[in-house]
Amino acid sequence: MKVAAEKIPFNVEEIRKDFPILKRKINGFPLVYFDNAATSQTPRQVIDTIVDYYSNYNANIHRGVHTLSQEATDKYETARKKIQTHFNAGKPHEIIFTSGTTHGINLVASGFASILQKGDEILVSALEHHSNIVPWQMLCEKTGAVLKVIPMDQNGELLLDEYEKLLSKKTKIVMVNHVSNTLGTVNPIKKIIDKAHSFGAAVLIDGAQAAPHIKADVQALDVDFYVASAHKMCGPTGVGMLYGKEEWLKKLPPYQGGGEMIATVTFKKTTYADLPHKFEAGTPNICGGIAFGAALDYMNAIGIDEIAKYEHQLLEYATKKLLEIEGIKIYGTAKDKTAVISFNIDGIHPYDIGTIIDKLGIAVRTGHHCTQPIMDYFKITGTIRASFSFYNTTQEIDLFIAAVKRAKTMLE
Ligand code: ALA
Repeated sequence: MKVAAEKIPFNVEEIRKDFPILKRKINGFPLVYFDNAATSQTPRQVIDTIVDYYSNYNANIHRGVHTLSQEATDKYETARKKIQTHFNAGKPHEIIFTSGTTHGINLVASGFASILQKGDEILVSALEHHSNIVPWQMLCEKTGAVLKVIPMDQNGELLLDEYEKLLSKKTKIVMVNHVSNTLGTVNPIKKIIDKAHSFGAAVLIDGAQAAPHIKADVQALDVDFYVASAHKMCGPTGVGMLYGKEEWLKKLPPYQGGGEMIATVTFKKTTYADLPHKFEAGTPNICGGIAFGAALDYMNAIGIDEIAKYEHQLLEYATKKLLEIEGIKIYGTAKDKTAVISFNIDGIHPYDIGTIIDKLGIAVRTGHHCTQPIMDYFKITGTIRASFSFYNTTQEIDLFIAAVKRAKTMLE
């Protein structure tokens, strides 16, 4: 598929040709890759961008007067603008390059150490990934702030009435994922943001799982911080983005000290660079940032709405087929879900199913998915999680269902 400025009609067979890895055989079987919530696969257009960078203009950025450095700087800053446009941030310097979602969350949590006081409250949801729990617990240990949890119900939907009861003038920041990595729940983040703001609290949205399926408009959402990772949206690993409202990014202290995040340095005093450089100490993942931009070009050429529509068909098809298997239980039955299915089969350990179906070429994730509190809520130790992307097909779902049935027969 050629990435052009105009939209390309959705054709899964054509799209699959862009992903070299989909031709792989695993244990003699065609690869069926259903671990997209962990990391997405990479299209040729992004791989070519990486090869082009290292073949033609690999250099450090913002530092050199030489041609290669200027070329690399231009492309890196162009990628920042692509991210700005994609998430509709008002200004390019409101986009900070990070190593991924976890880095973005830690950056904000660390900055809030200078804002929180003993007895302040901060809220996370029961649906969070460990990366949106642990940094805040560390912050509470440092500051004496109190962490409270927005509860959920059996469908994996947050209890908004309970959320409202938790909010008060003591609440300083609320952290919620846009989409749950384990259950696929799409959270009503606009409502959550507006409610928090009515109490003067800031909001950080973990967009890692939403970004591949939903185009977030940070200005329309009026969100204070939004974080995501390139590797969930056809880009490389080790790079991501933090959107922060300018006023917040000016208020927070730098996360790390180093080169290029300064204005002046003397042994007496250092002054910091303007945004975004204040938060970008050290040589960044230059190639990764540029490839992140290429990944956004690729996904936008197909269209995020078209992607979401197609993936929803895959979700409905797979859910129906899985429910035909006796003894199956699906965790995460929210009305609004992305294409993620977490499930168990009565009396069988998820790891055993995952291991057997891998022998048949099928890649899924098993375990707690870095969400032990969700496992505790459902009183289980783990699930099998199949997560679909726009390059998957219903034929692959048929292979997956047949493999799960075969594993079940072997394990019973
Ligand atoms: N957070 C990623 C997942 O859910 C790694 O698998």
